[in-house]
Amino acid sequence: MRTNNLLPMNGYSKSKINDLDLKDWKEYKDILTDSLWLIGERDKSGAHNNAYHGNFIPQIPNQMMQRFTKKGDVILDAFLGNGTTLIESKRLGRHGIGIELIPEVARSAIQNINRELPNGKKVFTEVIVADSTTKDAREKVL
Ligand SMILES: C[S@@+](CC[C@H](N)C(=O)[O-])C[C@H]1O[C@@H](n2cnc3c(N)ncnc32)[C@H](O)[C@@H]1O
Repeated sequence: MRTNNLLPMNGYSKSKINDLDLKDWKEYKDILTDSLWLIGERDKSGAHNNAYHGNFIPQIPNQMMQRFTKKGDVILDAFLGNGTTLIESKRLGRHGIGIELIPEVARSAIQNINRELPNGKKVFTEVIVADSTTKDAREKVL
């Protein structure tokens, strides 16, 4: 008997944690299914830029969100940086909340996120300037 979220007992098609049809997992061209993710080139499309030291390769949050979230879910990035995660969440139809400690970095993230076109999906994105380890940040998120 299978009891995990990925493989429900009534067949293998519907997942509770993402929008993927697990019967056809090999058919998804945008999901990397090899054991190693060989990402040829950093995604520079849309609002993505490599201006911030230490920012994500956008394909990483993209792959994680496609696997572990559904459209309409809320993504929380507690170390927002330049906003890569929220650009991707906006693209994928997920709501996004980002917390960033440094106000100038948060401002830059907001500009990046706003530059990303809505993609026809109605989602909110919110950037909070706070220390994500504090009660203050938690209260602003809730
Ligand atoms: C490695 S960067 C994240 C980059 C991000 N993933 C991107 O792609 O742009 C880490 C960020 O977390 C922020 N940060 C560090 N400690 C923090 C904290 N306690 N609360 C909120 N933000 C924090 C830093 O200012 C920095 O911008």
